Amino acid sequence: MKEINITELERKFQEKIDNDIKIEPNDWMPEEYRQTLIRQISQHAHSEIVGQLPEGNWVTRAPNLRRKAVLLAKIQDEAGHGLYLYSAVETLGADREQTMDDLHSGKAKYSSIFNYPALTWADMGMIGWLVDGAAIMNQVPLCRCSYGPYARAMVRVCKEESFHQRQGYEIVTQLAQGTPEQKAMAQESLDRWWWPALMMFGPSDKDSKHTAQSMKWKIKRHTNDELRQQFVDVTVPQAELIGLKVPDADLKFNEATGHYDFGDINWDEFWQVVAGHGPCNKERVAARKRAKEEGMWVREAANAYAEKRAKRKAS
Ligand code: 3HC
Repeated sequence: MKEINITELERKFQEKIDNDIKIEPNDWMPEEYRQTLIRQISQHAHSEIVGQLPEGNWVTRAPNLRRKAVLLAKIQDEAGHGLYLYSAVETLGADREQTMDDLHSGKAKYSSIFNYPALTWADMGMIGWLVDGAAIMNQVPLCRCSYGPYARAMVRVCKEESFHQRQGYEIVTQLAQGTPEQKAMAQESLDRWWWPALMMFGPSDKDSKHTAQSMKWKIKRHTNDELRQQFVDVTVPQAELIGLKVPDADLKFNEATGHYDFGDINWDEFWQVVAGHGPCNKERVAARKRAKEEGMWVREAANAYAEKRAKRKAS
């Protein structure tokens, strides 16, 4: 039997990547590439599902029927995003139950941003405007990711993400242009969500353990710091347009570079939240575990029905 030449396989694999040929589930790929994708896509999916929790708390407290309908639509979209991404993970051979258990056991991460509490209605606007705005920055390049199923899932996700960001900015704009109390609510919310939103992009490039390799494999098309800078450059003028002040004394437009210079991120806070010690980490994971337990009967019923149908077909 012809000996498999791994070096040759790896060379051909990298050549496909370098020529922007998509890698598909049945293609040969280095195990590290597969594991990196399983790690990133599963954590992305977890972020979509956990991200529904802070918003779900506000459905019954939305100020009117229109806001309630829009928030419901957004939350339902996030569930769909999670489903696309869990399905994309399965194309890499990951087991769905194990993927979910990794979230519940704390082995897998989800985005740090969802470990902050949503305290006022303005937070619903901030999450749409800043969190989904940051997600768009990060997800648009993923539409060109080298792994086919992930890239294709992102195209659909990004279309819906734009609606999420616009509805959030609309909420914040209305508050900022409303009564003094409403404007104060919007500013207080921006003060709480601005820095955690910058942290969503991950550690600085010098501290990122995956970025260099992920860029080589074209899983990432930009570095964490590049995307964070893009987000600041786009979002600061949006805040100024509606009369809100970004809570950063060092923020200043740099004529020489054409970008905003901004202050230092509190990386201790970031790593504390990533390590599970944020304001809501325990509550979020407990909610996901409870959802699995309380939803077990649905899965059991669906599996029983599927088995019965399969038996009837086979007989
Ligand atoms: N929250 C939690 N963990 C984070 C993080 C964050 N914001 N940023 C980085 N980390 C973790 C990484 O997962 C990695 O840990 P691991 O090895 O245990 O997985 C470690 O910190 C080092 O970070 P790196 O930058 O080296 O890791 P990556 O190369 O994976 O980059 C990332 C991190 C930029 C988040 C990248 O994984 C990514 O682009 N993921 C896909 C997009 C995504 O998950 N976005 C999250 C938000 S989704 C969302 O908000 C949806 C919206 O609709 C609600």
